[in-house]
Amino acid sequence: MKGFEPVRIGLVGVANFAASHKASILRMEEEGYADLVCVCIRNPEKYADAVAEYGERGTRVYTSYEEMLETERGNMELVALPTAIPDHAYTSVMAMEAGYDVLVEKAPAGAVQDVDEMILCSARTGRFCEVAFQNQSKNTVRAIKRRVCEGMFGKIERIAVMAEWVRPDSYYERNEWAGKMMYQGRYCCDGPSNNALAHYLYNALYWASPRWLHADLPVRVRGELYRAHPIEGEDTSAIAVETDGGCRITYLTTLAGWEHIGPISRIEGTEATADWSHNDGTVITWADGTTETIPPDGTREHFEVFRNTCKYMRGQSDTLNSPIAMARVHTVAINGAYESGGPPRTIAAEHVTREPKGESVFTGIDGIREILDQCYAEHKTFSEIDVPWAYQSDWVDTTNYERFEMELL
Ligand SMILES: NC(=O)c1ccc[n+]([C@@H]2O[C@H](COP(=O)([O-])OP(=O)(O)OC[C@H]3O[C@@H](n4cnc5c(N)ncnc54)[C@H](OP(=O)(O)O)[C@@H]3O)[C@@H](O)[C@H]2O)c1
Repeated sequence: MKGFEPVRIGLVGVANFAASHKASILRMEEEGYADLVCVCIRNPEKYADAVAEYGERGTRVYTSYEEMLETERGNMELVALPTAIPDHAYTSVMAMEAGYDVLVEKAPAGAVQDVDEMILCSARTGRFCEVAFQNQSKNTVRAIKRRVCEGMFGKIERIAVMAEWVRPDSYYERNEWAGKMMYQGRYCCDGPSNNALAHYLYNALYWASPRWLHADLPVRVRGELYRAHPIEGEDTSAIAVETDGGCRITYLTTLAGWEHIGPISRIEGTEATADWSHNDGTVITWADGTTETIPPDGTREHFEVFRNTCKYMRGQSDTLNSPIAMARVHTVAINGAYESGGPPRTIAAEHVTREPKGESVFTGIDGIREILDQCYAEHKTFSEIDVPWAYQSDWVDTTNYERFEMELL
């Protein structure tokens, strides 16, 4: 990028999703937007190959996050944090307090008070905290949002979200916090709603609002949270949300499915309905019966998160795509769901298939495909269609929601 001063980025972590951040930053290097100046690898013996590789390319390697923040003052500008969800708040706050801007992975945190700490810190220090919810950098998601903001959908009345994914036990064995509600004394709430499929609840809150760079606030939430895997958190969620803009969202996801379906969303406005699919195009049906198809543009939204952030830092983009203040509504929604539904409940073994598969163990809820299809079509939660293992929960008022506390069973 001619004339663009590359943003100097420090990356924290190596394993799992940190590899995606590395790939995005290296791509930004190729495009001239970024320079990966340092990485923090807290277990250098475990990642000896990565330490050697970074050393060869001249990227400084730190084994302590504090030391990296201290030593890089005046050099590094942006800290990329693909770290564990329960660590997001304090690692973001440390970086902003030390004078750096932050790109933290989704979900921003497990509890709204942690997100508020990040928002306050950003305001106090003047540093930004962008949340890497990459769908807000995805062309089909933004195209719907743009049309909603231009009034083309009329008022958004209902949104349904659905995804069926398969996750073997090895998914929960990749680190120590996966599938946990709390880890090392901090809220984690690791489940589809706050991790793997968090994007799609956030998308719904984003589309519900007719204001650009704004997402609707949940004012009432009802959650039903289940587990079929032998974990502490949930792997299957039905969450109903009513927003301050008057939209009803029904979010239906499982990581105990039989095949990969979705994520898909149906956005119903008074003037149009959109059928959005993560993998395919979006079809909008206008009130007069005509349709518009928006195909995926083939770009990788993970790259766009970094591209947008770098451009913003050099004044070439007016806005970040998902700043922490906007992302707060997602945490309010999931905290409300847990307050409503209580700690996740185990689905009785008679409704679940668990069997060895490959090197790991497969878990599938019997009949989940038909259940998800019916709930999605009718905008209903599992208990509302009388699924035998479902439980009823009460609505929780989240209008002024500021603190999440949960007694774990
Ligand atoms: N946007 C998406 O589509 C997407 C997809 C997947 C995951 N994610 C998100 O990515 C984040 C990470 O998830 P994950 O499953 O990859 O987590 P993970 O397995 O815990 O990996 C985190 C990495 O960060 C390192 N790390 C954490 N804290 C550190 C510190 N203070 N100093 C140095 N290194 C540190 C870990 O080091 P060690 O290995 O030494 O512990 C590990 O390499 C989560 O927020 C998750 O929700 C996003």
